Amino acid sequence: HRPLTLGTVSAIAIAVASGVHASDLRDRALEMFAALPSTVPALNDNIITDEKVDLGKALFFDPRMSASGVFSCNSCHNLATGGDDNMPTSIGHGWQQGPRNSPTVLNAVFNEAQFWDGRAADLAEQAKGPVQAGVEMANTPDNVLATLNSMPQYQEWFRASFPGQDDPVTFDNFAKAIEAFEATLITPAPFDAFLNGDDNALTDQQKAGLDLFMEKGCSACHNGVNLGGTGYFPFGLIEKPGADVLPPDDRGRFEVTKTADDSYVFRASPLRNIDQTAPYFHSGKVWDLRVAVAIMGTSQLGAELSDAEVDDIVAFLGALTGKMPEVIYPLLPAETSTTPHPTG
Ligand code: HEM
Ligand code: HEM
Repeated sequence: HRPLTLGTVSAIAIAVASGVHASDLRDRALEMFAALPSTVPALNDNIITDEKVDLGKALFFDPRMSASGVFSCNSCHNLATGGDDNMPTSIGHGWQQGPRNSPTVLNAVFNEAQFWDGRAADLAEQAKGPVQAGVEMANTPDNVLATLNSMPQYQEWFRASFPGQDDPVTFDNFAKAIEAFEATLITPAPFDAFLNGDDNALTDQQKAGLDLFMEKGCSACHNGVNLGGTGYFPFGLIEKPGADVLPPDDRGRFEVTKTADDSYVFRASPLRNIDQTAPYFHSGKVWDLRVAVAIMGTSQLGAELSDAEVDDIVAFLGALTGKMPEVIYPLLPAETSTTPHPTG
């Protein structure tokens, strides 16, 4: 037998005190969560090819997809700042302020529930929304296609991305190319390394935070690959947050289903890269992640979390921030004499 040194004694003391044993913690975590896959996921009815991803990237960054020529997807889902716009609610066409906070596009491909209120079935359907939304890009599908068709380089990229189609420049294909690009925006994090077997990928505080996240019940709603993005719940299940955080005029899923039960029902937000995407909630009214976590405690769990518990949970959430995809800014085709001019 080796004699017990002071070091081993204190290591044991820490392990006992925190009550967390890595492999037991991992086993429990694997029942609730799943690691990001190491390859780009397959999409429904949309084969991913390099050509399509490159086209989707060009479209994502091209402000000429908006009526004004000012807004691209990247305006509100800035890939340099966590895939969102870091504003309470987005500014779009004509400097209008939209009603909701912009969620990150990073890892969005893994959300089963889309948007704050579940209006869209998948990313391809989603991509058609902002282009036409009056407060976002305020464009029409016809004008998008006229713009694309006016540039021979875009025509060529569509042909290469959708081989065998007679007229590949369509609004459906526009959306599919963007979806293919978005599917590449995935960010493996220390939490994935932990789920995949690396005990040292999380600090002791992050492990304590993970334990609390499951014990307190956060994971009842925030689970799966994205720790959220899987279902809808009343915001204020136990206690409604104040009108500043939950403005009374946005009733969430009620607008989609028109069912009273869906009043103030929102998607449990996906939590990957959450420390990169302040401000928080659909209203974007909370700038501090610690405050957002404390609000979740009271509003969703009826639990007053202590400062130390909030700190541990926030430390754990930090382990969900992953390696950002390396995105090389695309060169876009130049306008021609037939390219529609910006309006508004
Ligand atoms: C939501 C992509 C343009 C603001 C989303 C989501 C995706 C997305 C994937 C859902 C994310 C999720 O549910 O987790 C795109 C693409 C765009 C685009 C591909 C370009 C075609 C814009 C622009 C703005 C914007 C220009 C701001 C003016 C928002 C907002 C939401 C959203 C506020 C949340 C809406 C809600 O849930 O009601 N977008 N977006 N997006 N996007 Fe965009
Ligand atoms: C939103 C964390 C418990 C449902 C959020 C957000 C965070 C968070 C940080 C903001 C995300 C963003 O703005 O992008 C937590 C933590 C919990 C917890 C740490 C445990 C202490 C729960 C539970 C439920 C739930 C138990 C379901 C009953 C929701 C919903 C939203 C949300 C619906 C969106 C609210 C909105 O409309 O803005 N959560 N959550 N959460 N969470 Fe939780």
